[in-house]
Amino acid sequence: MTQPMDRREFLKVSGGASAGLFLANFDGGPYSYAAAKGEKPLRIGVIGTGNRGRSLLSNLLLMPGLEFPALCDIDLNALAQAQDMVVKAGHPKPEGYSNGTEDFQRLLWREDIDAVVIASPWNWHTPMAVYAMRNKKYAAVEVPIAMTFEECWDLVNAYEETGVPCMMLENWSFRQDNLALLNMVRKGMFGDVVHVQCSHTHDCIDHWFFSPEGNMRWGGRFLIEHNRSQYPTHAMGPVWPWLNLGCGDYIVTAVSMTNRQMGINAYFARKFGPKHPYAKMAFAQGDVVTTLVRTKLGNTIYVKYDMQLPRPYDNQWELQGTLGIYNEQRNALYLTGKSPEYHQWEPFPPHMEKHDHAWWRKVKEQAPGAAHGGTDYLELTLFLEAVRKKTQTPIDVYDSVLMSSIIPLSEKSIAGGFVPVECPDFTRGKWKTKKPAFGVEA
Ligand SMILES: NC(=O)c1ccc[n+]([C@@H]2O[C@H](COP(=O)([O-])OP(=O)(O)OC[C@H]3O[C@@H](n4cnc5c(N)ncnc54)[C@H](O)[C@@H]3O)[C@@H](O)[C@H]2O)c1
Repeated sequence: MTQPMDRREFLKVSGGASAGLFLANFDGGPYSYAAAKGEKPLRIGVIGTGNRGRSLLSNLLLMPGLEFPALCDIDLNALAQAQDMVVKAGHPKPEGYSNGTEDFQRLLWREDIDAVVIASPWNWHTPMAVYAMRNKKYAAVEVPIAMTFEECWDLVNAYEETGVPCMMLENWSFRQDNLALLNMVRKGMFGDVVHVQCSHTHDCIDHWFFSPEGNMRWGGRFLIEHNRSQYPTHAMGPVWPWLNLGCGDYIVTAVSMTNRQMGINAYFARKFGPKHPYAKMAFAQGDVVTTLVRTKLGNTIYVKYDMQLPRPYDNQWELQGTLGIYNEQRNALYLTGKSPEYHQWEPFPPHMEKHDHAWWRKVKEQAPGAAHGGTDYLELTLFLEAVRKKTQTPIDVYDSVLMSSIIPLSEKSIAGGFVPVECPDFTRGKWKTKKPAFGVEA
């Protein structure tokens, strides 16, 4: 096992460097998904090897040019399963870190780790990401990266003090349909985009907030004390580049409404009987939270949380501009003066094919069958490419925080009696001059 850094060593790397120093060549060159011949392998650690951590690991194990010196999980069983996956893929067994909730720190002290993937519960994302940056490790962090304004600032401050990039793994930013739409928006096909709707609508009561047996999982605990849009980043994932948020526009204010909580109690009464404790327990979280956001340019976004009533999954993206509209549920669009029939939807798939993003043309060749239809593979390869070239990650810390800020904005709005809440400018004004970078095609 590699010896962990001692305290003095750790302090040496934990501060001081500026963003400019760490990012040797920010603009990078044309991307390549695999290591070039003769390039040193990248050494990856994974923190949190539960369901999502192992799913991400399965994607990483498909990629050439990677080594896996260490993994961390407080659950020995989850850790062992991940170690087995690595060994079965033909690598040496990774060192395991499982000695309590802070043991991830020892993994991050190692000098033979270039980057970490973090897939722990929500409350651990920010502390782990900040610790990674302060130990000069690129971090790819599961969603949402932050739950409070304080955590958002912690991330921004750590990035600005260390210069080490950190990316939230918001996979829906990388979906093929969403990226094709981004290309269409950038070509001006919708005119000026003025309004977007988005949702995370997914019944997670019986497998994620609670186990199928009715036991509370870590996610369920957030429903007891908090009433807010708990999981908005999948909804916001494609929206911020469509609207140039963080690079030309920014959130000014948000206001949220929520209904009462009935879904959790009703589910437990239905499935386990009215005497089940969760059939009566008071949960703070309302069943549906709707948030309205207004931006500096005067555009609006509708964000919906709906995760505890019976329903199939969808994201309900709809984008409206001065020249037309796109609707994800209909898989259709309408462009004034261009669509074949006046005021009639036309199918989106031919447009998606025509405006397919270069990232997708490449990933389809390289990873047919990867998880989430290749989206997870794509986001990880782009993250690793940034690590390899020491460039900025495709989603940077400001983008990550912006998407996550819907959580504290909505919580504050609801707690204050459904009042508008001002969004802090986490870029400290940089949004005014930053040019769009995400997915810009050469
Ligand atoms: N992007 C997506 O599509 C997607 C899908 C599912 C989950 N997620 C996110 O992934 C994360 C993990 O979710 P999951 O469903 O895999 O949960 P999970 O419970 O299956 O896994 C979390 C793991 O973290 C471990 N853990 C907890 N505290 C730890 C600590 N201090 N140090 C090390 N390990 C610790 C747990 O033991 C567990 O194995 C969540 O943030 C979730 O929001 C994202």
